[in-house]
Amino acid sequence: MCGIVGYTGKRCARDILIEGLKRLEYRGYDSSGIAVRGPGGITCTRSVGRIADLEKQIAGIDLAGSVGIAHTRWATHGAPTQANAHPHTDCSANVYLVHNGVIENCDKLKAQLEQEGHTFTSETDTEVIAHLVEKYLEGDDLAAAVQQALKRIIGTFGIAVMCRQCPDTIVVARNGSPIVIGVGDDEYYVASDVSALVEHTRQIIYLDDNEIAILKPDGFRSLTIDNVPTTKKVTEVDWDIEMIGLNNFDTFMAKEIHEQPETVRAAFRGRLYREQCEVRLGGLMDLGDTFLDARRIIISACGTAWHSALIGECMIEDIARVPVEVEYASEFRYRNPIIEPGTIVLVISQSGETADTLAALNEAKRRGVPVLAISNVVGSTIARESDAGVYIHAGPEIGVASTKAFTSQMVVLYLISLMLGRARGVGAAEGIKMIQALENIPDQISKVLEVESQVQHLAEKYYRKAENSLFLGRGYSFPIALEGALKLKEISYVHAEGYPAAEMKHGPIALITPDMPVVFIAVQDSIYDKILVNMKEVKARGGKVIAIATEGDALINNIADDVVYVPDAPEPLTPLLTVVPLQLLAYHVATMKGCDVDKPRNLAKSVTVE
Ligand code: AGP
Repeated sequence: MCGIVGYTGKRCARDILIEGLKRLEYRGYDSSGIAVRGPGGITCTRSVGRIADLEKQIAGIDLAGSVGIAHTRWATHGAPTQANAHPHTDCSANVYLVHNGVIENCDKLKAQLEQEGHTFTSETDTEVIAHLVEKYLEGDDLAAAVQQALKRIIGTFGIAVMCRQCPDTIVVARNGSPIVIGVGDDEYYVASDVSALVEHTRQIIYLDDNEIAILKPDGFRSLTIDNVPTTKKVTEVDWDIEMIGLNNFDTFMAKEIHEQPETVRAAFRGRLYREQCEVRLGGLMDLGDTFLDARRIIISACGTAWHSALIGECMIEDIARVPVEVEYASEFRYRNPIIEPGTIVLVISQSGETADTLAALNEAKRRGVPVLAISNVVGSTIARESDAGVYIHAGPEIGVASTKAFTSQMVVLYLISLMLGRARGVGAAEGIKMIQALENIPDQISKVLEVESQVQHLAEKYYRKAENSLFLGRGYSFPIALEGALKLKEISYVHAEGYPAAEMKHGPIALITPDMPVVFIAVQDSIYDKILVNMKEVKARGGKVIAIATEGDALINNIADDVVYVPDAPEPLTPLLTVVPLQLLAYHVATMKGCDVDKPRNLAKSVTVE
C-alpha cells in the first residue's frame, strides 16, 4: 500500500530516492517524505500530496549525502497530513524509519512507550516502531535494536531504518510487506518493488518474511529477526526501464490497454504445442497428477483478479468439466471453508502482494491443500509462497486500474482449462481449434482498439452528467459486466453496478431512467436471445442502452441506442474482446471528468493490508 526507497553508496541519494518514489507512487500517493544523511547529520522533509509537492518542498534544501530513505504513503492510521507522513523518528530525532504495513498492536505498544516517557508526534502505527528502536538502541548496533523492536510487533511490515550513530548503514526488514534489495557497484538500493530499482540495477535480492538485512556501501548481511544468519541469492530480473515508461502515451492506463495484443500473446507464447494439440505450463509440471487429477478447484482472489476467477470458473467447468468455486480471498480466509480431499486452491494476483489473497493462500497451505498461483510479478510473495504457479508475463502494470493483467490472467486460465481438458477427454481436433482461436485473439484485440474514438464519443454522449450506470451480462459476459462496472467506478467515481442481466428484473430495474446508461454485453453466444429480452425490458422503461455486440449483428441495432462491435470468437474467449471497450469507456469517462486515471483517489495499486 505504500512505497519505500532507500540508498547507500557513493552517489547523491536525493535524486535516486525522489526518482524511486516516482516509480512507486502508484502504490500510494497521499503524502511522502525523505531523509538524507549529509555532513551535518540527517535532514528529513515530509509533505502532503504527491511526490511533486515533496520535490517543491526540498528544492531549496541542502540534501547532500549518499545515504537516505524515502516513502510515499497510502494512509491507514491517521489522515494524510505532514505529521503522519514518513519517515518517522524517535524522541531525539536520532532514528529515522519508513514502513509499509499495519502494526495491529500499536495502541498497546504506544501506551507502554508513553508510560516510559516517550512522546509521540503522529497518529500513525509506524511511529511506534521508531520509538521501540530508540528503546533498544545501544551504541551503534542498529540491527540488534531493530530485531528487538520487531519482536514486539504483531502485524505486517516492510521497513527501512537509519540512525545518526551509523553513518552509512540502512537496516531493512520484512514480514508480509515486500522488500527488494538492489545490488550495485559498492552501493545498495532497497525498495518495495523492482520498478524503483531497475534503472540502476537488475541484480535483485528478495527479502523473506521475518528477515532483516544490513546494507552498507561495501557490503550486505542478512539475518532472521532471531539473529540466525541467512544466505540470499541474487536474481537477474528481466525488466528494463522502457517497460516502466509511458512510451508516448498520456497515461500508464492508456499504454497498458493498448499493450494488450502483445501482452496476451506473451501470456501464451511458448506454451502451445500444436503438434500434440496441447498446452504445457512449466510451473504446473511440479504438481504433476495432483493438478491433472484435481477433483475440485477453489479460485480465490480480490477485485479484478476475482473477476478473472469467475471467467476461469466458466472456462474450466465448460472445457474440462472440473467443478470450480470462486471465493473472495477476504471471505475465504475467515469462513472456515470445507475443503475435500482432491481439492486444489488457485490464487490469482497481479501484484503477488495482496494481503487478503496471501492470507487465503496461507489458509489453504495451513490445511495441507496444494496451492497454485497465477501472478504477474516475478519473485512476489504469492509467487514464492505457492506450491506451483504460472506467470502471466504482462510486464509491469503501473496503472492502478488493472487492464492488461486481467486479459492475461484470462489467457492463463484458458490454458489451464485446455491443459485439464486434454487430460480429461478433449480430443486433439478440439484442442487444435481452441489453440487456433486463442492465437487469433491478439489481432482481434487490435481490431477492437480501433473503436476507441467511437467509445470516446459514447463517453461524452452518455456520461457527462450520469451519476450512476448499470452493466449487464449473462454467462461468460456476467463477470465482464462486473469488471466494466469496477473500471468505471474506480477511475471516474461514477457509481456503477454489474449484474447478471436476468437479475435486473429482481430489483435493479427500479433504477432505470433515461439518465442512467445501461451497458449490455450482448455478443451472439448461447444465451443471446435471452439478453435481447433483458435489453427490451430496459428500453420499455425508457432506459438508454449501449450494447457490446458481435460484428455483423444487425438485429441489435433495432433495440440498442448505440452498439460497439467486437469480432466473433468462441464463447470462452469472448471476454478477452468484450472487456476492451469497457476499459476504454471507463478511461474516457474518467479523462473527460478530469480524473487521474493512473492514481485514482483513495486507491493504491497493491493492497498489502487487510
Ligand atoms: C483493479 O482495477 C483494482 N485496482 C483492484 O481491484 C485489484 O484488482 C485488486 O486489488 C487485486 O490486486 P492483485 O491482482 O494485485 O491481487
